[in-house]
Amino acid sequence: MKVLIVGSGGREHAIAVSVSKSRRVEKIYCAPGNAGIGQIAECVSIGAMEFDALTVFAKEKGIDLVIIGMDDPLAGGLTDVMEAAGLRVFGPRKNAAVLEASKAFSKDLMKKYEIPTAAYENFDSSRAALAYLEKADFPVVLKADGLALGKGVLICHTLEEARAGVRTIMEDKQFGDAGNRLVIEEFMTGREVSVLSFVDGKTIRTMTSAQDHKRIGDGDTGLNTGGMGTFSPSPFYTEEVDNFCRKFIYQPTVDAMAAEGRPFKGIIFFGLMLTKDGPKVLEYNARFGDPEAQVVLPRMKNDIIDVIEACIDGTLDQIELAFEENAAVCVVLASGGYPVSYEKGYPITGLERFNGKEDYFCFHAGTKERDGQIVTNGGRVLGITATGQDLKEAREKAYEATEWVSFEKKYMRKDIGKAIDEAEMTE
Ligand code: AMP
Ligand code: GLY
Repeated sequence: MKVLIVGSGGREHAIAVSVSKSRRVEKIYCAPGNAGIGQIAECVSIGAMEFDALTVFAKEKGIDLVIIGMDDPLAGGLTDVMEAAGLRVFGPRKNAAVLEASKAFSKDLMKKYEIPTAAYENFDSSRAALAYLEKADFPVVLKADGLALGKGVLICHTLEEARAGVRTIMEDKQFGDAGNRLVIEEFMTGREVSVLSFVDGKTIRTMTSAQDHKRIGDGDTGLNTGGMGTFSPSPFYTEEVDNFCRKFIYQPTVDAMAAEGRPFKGIIFFGLMLTKDGPKVLEYNARFGDPEAQVVLPRMKNDIIDVIEACIDGTLDQIELAFEENAAVCVVLASGGYPVSYEKGYPITGLERFNGKEDYFCFHAGTKERDGQIVTNGGRVLGITATGQDLKEAREKAYEATEWVSFEKKYMRKDIGKAIDEAEMTE
């Protein structure tokens, strides 16, 4: 089987590694890919939003399966375009990808189908939003409706801050058209957990849990990023939480999408907050998380192609997912200055240290090859993942491996997985 993966980050590298392990795959292409993906796949320089070029390429090469990793092409309808050309595609159609692409849509869906989430109101104009704020309880959470690289969420502690936030999102359009609509939401507190799942339109199979670290600085300080590190499983995701979510969140979401005439086939990523009133949905994504995929996929025992095909064919009820009884930690190595401004093009050394090691992974996020050398090419550069018998061992190994590679202005958080110790203390 020939597979084309669309995307270029650490998530797509993790997907490519899983796909490369399938006994059924003979050749992997990735568009546009990166230097790490290039070691196991043939990268082609077609951008993820070049729908026609991607479709022509896939037809010409006789691609049997396309896997779309990123949110933007899914929201834009790449699945629909490719399916219309007769290709087999893994990833939701446009009318289902809206689950992630419009926060206003997802909030209305949850309200209609009584799926637990924070109380909220949607706004189409800044005037109405500003008027609402006059009577609001603080803090409030402002969310740009559309896709904003995980950065369109502002937590505002005062009326002044919230007014400024509404203007930034809806009037100055800091996140572009994503800010045409706004969700204002009740502020919640609790542990955050990410649960990814495979969905075939009616059946859902959840993967092992994970936790992300979204802020740039240690102790969860500073600006939001795409994600600075993850661990899996989450010690806070207990059987009781799982049972609750199965009953009130997972299947109800899949059923709600089907009832709306938007059957969802692909990955649903549930961003959950474990509040004192029970688990609630913070957000949905319509794709693997990045860097959640980098700790979840290395632990999955199934042949990923079998699972993906079952999603496309609507036979997921015949598949059980299985995960190793171990743990994984991923520490992101970023370019100093990310997420604001940073330089690219610095040579990376030490990558060969990962060769031939089964329990260490160096997932490339922003890298490229230049004159036979691998150089930095993005804010998030590498995701260093290690597996271990338990979270502590995985964390120790991941941090040890972060020292193997060097590049100018290398930056990482030193406290990825701190919650592991906190979980132990509360046991
Ligand atoms: P989202 O993109 O919706 O997941 O939001 C990004 C981050 O903002 C989340 O991971 C939370 O840390 C935080 N956040 C979002 N919504 C809320 C909320 N209602 N209450 C508290 N924190 C929130
Ligand atoms: N790590 C969060 C995300 O992929 O959106």
